[in-house]
Amino acid sequence: MNTYSIGLMPGDGTGPEVLDEGVKVIKAAASKYDFKLDFQKYDFGGERYKRTGETLPAEAIGDLKKHNAIFLGAIGHPDVKPGILELGILLKARFALDQYINLRPVKLYPNVATPLKDKGPAEIDFVVVRENTGGIYTGVGGASMVGTDQEIATQVMTYSRHVVERCVRYAYEYARKRNRKKLLTLVHKCNVLTHVGDLWVRTHEEVGNADYTDIKQDYNHVDACTMWMVKSPEFYDVIVTSNLFGDIITDLGAMIQGGMGIAAGGNINPDGVSMFEPIGGSAPKYTGKNIINPLACICAGGMLLETIGEDEAGAAIDKAVHDALASGKIKNLSAGKMGMSTREVGDLVASLL
Ligand code: IPM
Ligand code: MN
Repeated sequence: MNTYSIGLMPGDGTGPEVLDEGVKVIKAAASKYDFKLDFQKYDFGGERYKRTGETLPAEAIGDLKKHNAIFLGAIGHPDVKPGILELGILLKARFALDQYINLRPVKLYPNVATPLKDKGPAEIDFVVVRENTGGIYTGVGGASMVGTDQEIATQVMTYSRHVVERCVRYAYEYARKRNRKKLLTLVHKCNVLTHVGDLWVRTHEEVGNADYTDIKQDYNHVDACTMWMVKSPEFYDVIVTSNLFGDIITDLGAMIQGGMGIAAGGNINPDGVSMFEPIGGSAPKYTGKNIINPLACICAGGMLLETIGEDEAGAAIDKAVHDALASGKIKNLSAGKMGMSTREVGDLVASLL
C-alpha cells in the first residue's frame, strides 16, 4: 500500500476549521482507494509570529521538503501588519519550494449561484495556469529619495526564457491531459509590455509548434480577458499567464464560480513538493463559529491527491463535491448561510465518496 506524508499548515483564522474538513475528506478517500496518509502539523501563522517573531524559519523549509505534499488552511491575522505573513510564509514557501505553477480551476458546480446572467456549469469550466515564482513578484527593484517629492520607485517584471518555458510547457501538458477543447490561451499585455510580452508570445508559439501541435493556440490581452471571462467564459479551456495577471484574473474567476467558498488552488512544483490551499483567506470574523464553508479546502484536497498520483481518489473528491451541491442540501456558499455547519458539510462530502 502506498503511504504519503502530508505536511499540514492550518494557519490563521478559519484556516484550522476548513483544513480539518479537507483532511477528513482526503482520509476518507485514502481508505476507499487503499492508500495511507501520514500527517505532520506545523504552527506557522500569525499566532506563532506574535509569540516568536518567526514567519517561516529557514530550517522549516528543509523539513517541508520531506513531505509528498503540503495542505494549507489560511494565512492572515488581524493583529499583524498586512504583508508580513503573506510574504514571510505564503510567498516564501512558494519560492523556497520552487512551486512555479499556481493551478486554479474556475468551475461552476450545480446549484451554485454565479453573478453571470444566463451562464451555468456548461459555460464556466476552465483552468488558469498562473506562473507562480517570477515576474513582478520577485521584488527586483528599489526606491530612492523616499519621502521626498523626488521619490522614485521601481518594481520590475523580470522573466527568463527558462521560467516562461517551464510554465508554458506545464500548461500545454495540462491542456493535453485535460483533453477537452485542447485550447491553450496565453494571457498577457504584449501590446504595451513589448519586451516581456514578446518573450511569452514567442515561447507560447515556439513550444506549441514544436511539441504540442494537437493543442490549439490563442492569445488575449489581459484587459480583454477580464471582459471575455464575464461575457463568454465558455470560450476558455486552459489559460496560461504571468504571476500578477494570474493573481488578478483568478480573483475574478473565483467570483464567477460562486465565490471564495469554492475556489481552490495548488502551488505546484512538478518535480518537488506542492502546496494546496483554499484561496479565500483566513476570514477572521468567522473564526471558531463552525459556519465557514470548507468546500474550497476540500477541493484543494482533491487536487492534492491528484498531484501526488492518486488521480482516481482526486477525481472522486471532485465528484463528491459535485454531488453534495447537486443534492441541494447546501443552501448557499457563504459563511453562515449554508444551512449546515462547517463540519456537516465535510461529513456530507465524505459520505458521498
Ligand atoms: C493569492 C494571494 C497572494 C498572491 C498574496 C496573499 C501574497 O493573493 O494567493 O492569490 O498575491 O499571490
Ligand atoms: Mn490573489
